[in-house]
This record gives sequence, structure tokens and C-alpha cells, in this order.
Amino acid sequence: MKRRIAPNPIRGLSKGPSFATMRRREQAVCVPDLHEMTRYTNRVRAKRKRVVKESLATYLPSRRVAGRQHSLRQHELGQFLTPNPVATLMASMFTNREKEVRLLDAGAGAGALIQAFVETRCATKPLPAMIHVDAYELDPSLLAPLHRTLEHCRQVCLAAGIEFTAEVRNVDFIEATLPLVRGDFFHGPQTPFNAAILNPPYHKINSSSRTRLLLRSAGIETSNIYTGFLALAANLLCEGGEMVAITPRSFANGPYFRPFRNLFLKLMALRRLHVFESRSAAFHQQNVLQENIILHALKSRTKPSVVVVSTSSGAPHAPITERQCAYSEMIAPDDPEQFIHLVTDDFQQNARQIVSRFDAALAELGLEVSTGRVVDFRARQFLLREPACSAVPLIYPCHFNGGYVKWPKTPSRKPNAILDAEGTQELLVPAAIYVLVKRFSSKEERRRVVACIYDPLRISAGRVGFENHLNYFHAHGKGLSLNIARGLSAFLNSTVLDVYFRQFNGHTQVNATDLRNLNYPSRAQLESLGRRIGETFPNQEQLDQIIQQELI
Ligand SMILES: C[S@@+](CC[C@H](N)C(=O)[O-])C[C@H]1O[C@@H](n2cnc3c(N)ncnc32)[C@H](O)[C@@H]1O
Repeated sequence: MKRRIAPNPIRGLSKGPSFATMRRREQAVCVPDLHEMTRYTNRVRAKRKRVVKESLATYLPSRRVAGRQHSLRQHELGQFLTPNPVATLMASMFTNREKEVRLLDAGAGAGALIQAFVETRCATKPLPAMIHVDAYELDPSLLAPLHRTLEHCRQVCLAAGIEFTAEVRNVDFIEATLPLVRGDFFHGPQTPFNAAILNPPYHKINSSSRTRLLLRSAGIETSNIYTGFLALAANLLCEGGEMVAITPRSFANGPYFRPFRNLFLKLMALRRLHVFESRSAAFHQQNVLQENIILHALKSRTKPSVVVVSTSSGAPHAPITERQCAYSEMIAPDDPEQFIHLVTDDFQQNARQIVSRFDAALAELGLEVSTGRVVDFRARQFLLREPACSAVPLIYPCHFNGGYVKWPKTPSRKPNAILDAEGTQELLVPAAIYVLVKRFSSKEERRRVVACIYDPLRISAGRVGFENHLNYFHAHGKGLSLNIARGLSAFLNSTVLDVYFRQFNGHTQVNATDLRNLNYPSRAQLESLGRRIGETFPNQEQLDQIIQQELI
């Protein structure tokens, strides 16, 4: 049967909530108002903008190394030096008060973290008798400023009556310490550190690189150097030793960091995670757009019952808010992925509660999610700018248009079509109803999860290609029913899901694993929700109201 495609008024919106919905609301203990949640996310976005602006105007200069330009080499070495207020915040997180401190800084740069640590420790009673620092730094051009910082530390310790010794190691931290971690013969006894402070370098390490193979030889499987540093440092700590590190948030979820999470969370007990509300404020001078967190952990296999989650805007000396979070809520004991959920306020807690009430796994709904099969630069010879009779639609995120795919897009910087030829058969799927989700949301995008429906009634073609920047939901290779697709897309686009999703996803990437791991409403709920969605997708406020009425 042909469907007529015309804008539909959204059923029931003007009438307000039904009696049943109101009853359900009364009965629920803490039903969050989704309007309030939408306003909340708007407030958070506005605040983030304000923070970046303010911090651009007022940020204390970070420890700049005189005369250094941001060179390619600095980029290669992942040199993002920690601004002083951030270093001081990190140093304040150490709680052990040992008489002898043996501190590791892996990737010491010019020594900002060591200086903050020593100054803080020398001002905190009871004072230690001795501080020894091992500073690993690969870049020879940073050694002179590093030595100057260590001399300053020696003076600070001297004034406080504390013995200070330091060793600068101008070697590759991974190469140098791996034998200790592996316990290789002839390498002598390992001298464990009881404190480690790190802002490790950040860059990908490809699967055949020497670094990757070295780490693998010690049982550390990771695709980014920063998690390699964290894993090694965790190994080098003695039992009860403390680590404070500032890193990107990306290790908190995603399949690539799963082996790291398993290893790190087994060795270390998280005590505190500090989240910067603004992605760019803490490191704005260096154009770092990764979302960063500070972690404080103790080397122990016994996990605490609660972890402190603190937040600050990222502007210098901004107030810090703290809340306690049950360890089992942060990392669900039965989650094989060991995702780390960062719930920073009550709204987020409400969102978490709502989403955890949905208990349908994707498989129970008869659905799967896959990544688009067309990697455009590998299929270049098959791509066409305009539709053609020998070709089928090729869908990119730029074809998302108000909840439904609009194709073709003209003019467009992206190709619109892919040849339906022998070489592309594996790349195409039968034309059917699918729900698509962007794999990468832009920084400016309002939501992290952006979903859209591919409806073959709007696009005349027997097959279709989904580009690799998209994930697509399907029913074991087949399409979805229209109601399920609409319900699913509405759920994925809702504010409540977005607030929940950001708790474990700290970057702009939405992996198929993230989507696979979500809890979904039941089939009946999705269908009922889908019936509320017309040919014109509701705007955010309307959508959240429908979600409130149907699901909460
Ligand atoms: C993100 S910077 C942090 C510097 C300093 N800790 C700070 O917070 O200002 C990382 C540092 O690690 C150094 N680095 C990169 N790869 C290294 C390696 N394999 N071994 C030792 N140091 C390395 C870089 O040169 C850089 O100075």
C-alpha cells in the first residue's frame, strides 16, 4: 500500500498529558520533567560557550617553554603542557602521607606536574622526610627547563627541611620501563613508585608499530599511547600507590579501549574523576579539543564503594562541585565492556535511572547495528557526484534532514551515488527502512546521538549504500517496520538518551558498540512511540514531550 507523504500534525501534542500519563507521573518517585531536561542541556551548552570565552580572556599563561614554537615534533610527541591551575588541582588530589615519596612523572615535559606536586606536598602536614622524582622525557629540547624546574623543587624542599633527589631520564618511557614490568631477567629488582603524576602524550599507535608490539609483550593491548603510559605507570606503582593523571575521556567507552579498561580497572581502584565541563577550556591555549578528565586512583584490587565525581568549568580557579557515586553505578559489575559512566549531577542521575528502566537488549528487539560499509576513499572509482541510472543512492550524514533522509543533496561536496556494479555488491544493502546514526557529531551539534530514518518510499531505488561515517540499524540485514523505525529514531534523538549517553561517551564519536550496549524500550513501547511520529519529524521540544508521555 502506498503511503502519502505529507506533513502530519503530531497527534495529541496540544491536548497535554492524558490522565493515565498523569497518574503514572504521580506514581513515579522522581519523574524528571523532560522540558526541564531540555532547558538543562541548553543551559549546559550556554555555560560551556561562556566558559570558553571567559577562559580565553583570563586564563593564566600555562607553563610556556621560552622560545618554543608548536612544531610538528611537538605534535608527534603529544606535547600539551599542563596549565598551572590544572597542575595544582591534580597535585591536591594525592591523599597518601608517606614519609618517603617516590614520584614517577612519565612524559614530564618542562616539569609542571612535578613542581605542583612538590609545592603542594611541602605545604601539607605531615611533611615527608624525602621526595625522590623520576622524570621521563624524550624531547631533549625540554631537558633544560625540566632541570630548572627540578632545581626550583629542590629549593622548595630545602626550605621545608625535606630531602630532594631527582633523576631525569631522557629515554623512551615505554622502551625503558617495559623490561621492569615484564620482569625480564638481568634487569634487577623493580623499585616501585608510591606516587605517579601524569599528563601522558596522546596519539594513536598503529597495530604493527614497535611501541604497540612492546606494550603487547607485557600484556598491554592498546591503540593509543596515553593508555599505554597509564597501564605501565599502574604496573610500576607499589600496592597502595597513588596515581593522578589527566587524559582524554575516550578510554571510558568504546571497543578499542576495552582491553585497557579491563587491565587498568583490575589493577587500580578509582577514587575520584574530575570532569571539565568545557571540552576546550582546560587546554584552550593549545587548541586541545578532546574532552579531558583527571583521574585519581589507588593501586588496589579492592574497589571502593563510592567514587567522587567532581566537576569544574575548566576556567582557572572555577568552583568545583562534587558528588559521590556508587562504584557499581559508575562501572556496572556485569558489564563486559566495563564502560565508565560519569554522572555529574541530579539531572544526569535521573536520565540514568530512566534509561536503566528500559530493559530490552537490541537482540531481543530482533535488531542489529552495523557501521556503513562504503569507505569512500577506498571505493572512489565507483562514486558519482549526481544520481545516474546505473547507480544507487550513497547516503552520508549530509543527507540527514529533519529526521528523514533527503536525497539527493545538490549542490553537495559529497558524492550522491555509487555504481551498482560487480565491485560494489558487498557494499550495498537492499532498499528498506533503516535507522541511521551519525558516527561523528560535530562540536557544535546539539546532541551526541543524531538519528535519522532512511525510508525507500521517499527515494526511488532498489538498493542503497551507507557510507562509513554512519551506523545503521537493521533487522538481521533486512529493513525495520515503519513504526519501529520511527519509535527507535525518536528514542535515540531524545534529550534523555543524549544526557545518558554523554555519561560514558566523552568524545564526538558514536560507535556501533555504544549503540549495541544501550538498553532500549520494549518493542511495544517503540511501536507506540512510533505511532506518535508523523511524516514530519517533531522538533526537540515536541519530541521530548512525546517521550515523556509515552515512555516515562
Ligand atoms: C602531554 S605532554 C605533558 C608534559 C608535562 N607532563 C606537562 O604536564 O606539562 C607529554 C610529554 O611526554 C613526552 N613524551 C612523548 N613520548 C614520550 C615517550 N615515549 N617517552 C617519554 N616521554 C615522552 C613529550 O615530549 C611531552 O613532553
